[in-house]
Amino acid sequence: MTATQVIQRITSKFFKRFYNEDALITSHTHDFIYDPDFKLAYERGLKASGGMDLHNRWRIHVALWAAKQCLRLDGDFLECGVNYGMTSSAIMTYLDWKTIDKEFFLCDSFSGTKTGSKAQLDSGFFNCSYERARDNFAEWENAHVIKGWLPESLPPERHFAFVHIDLNDAKSEVETFKRLLPSLQRGAVVLLDDYAYTGFESSYEEWNRHGLNILAIPTGQGMIMV
Ligand SMILES: C[S@@+](CC[C@H](N)C(=O)[O-])C[C@H]1O[C@@H](n2cnc3c(N)ncnc32)[C@H](O)[C@@H]1O
Repeated sequence: MTATQVIQRITSKFFKRFYNEDALITSHTHDFIYDPDFKLAYERGLKASGGMDLHNRWRIHVALWAAKQCLRLDGDFLECGVNYGMTSSAIMTYLDWKTIDKEFFLCDSFSGTKTGSKAQLDSGFFNCSYERARDNFAEWENAHVIKGWLPESLPPERHFAFVHIDLNDAKSEVETFKRLLPSLQRGAVVLLDDYAYTGFESSYEEWNRHGLNILAIPTGQGMIMV
């Protein structure tokens, strides 16, 4: 074995020990990234986003875990802030959503945030096409894309077992959560995508103003159990 091969072998072993993505570096076990079901789900998410990869596999792992956990509860699933559909497409693939006797409501303005600028929309980070989202989710009959501002456009008369809140606008997020409260099942998980995420400090402060018991996850997500 050449010296180069020895170095490669040592460094690849060393780096394999580390998860280093999405502002999270850890040597904790992260075997989920090799799980074929996880890979399939993540790939479907990437298909939705047109290949835009935020390299946020641990965040997706948390979302898949929480969604699976909530399957045993009565009630539907809801995503507030869908964008291109990365997370919710991954969830629906992972859970084989067409076989699930629940509805998945997918709410988004498809116009960015309420206070967002034209530059925000021009950047392409936010999906401004309802049709694109609708086409992405067409394979699941029990998925419903709703265009409108939150919290005003929340689907009425529904109960939810799992909610993913990801608006990149803490004020709207908290208002949405408060509006949702009476319709959350006991044991429901509300997953916040950016609660403790680096750069979202004002969002952290806004959420913490309301006396809620929020778990900060090292991925930057937050979790509320109802
Ligand atoms: C970060 S993206 C969501 C990402 C998505 N959850 C994913 O996994 O790819 C935030 C989305 O929230 C939407 N949004 C922001 N504020 C909103 C509001 N008040 N009402 C409805 N949609 C909103 C934006 O249009 C954008 O698509």
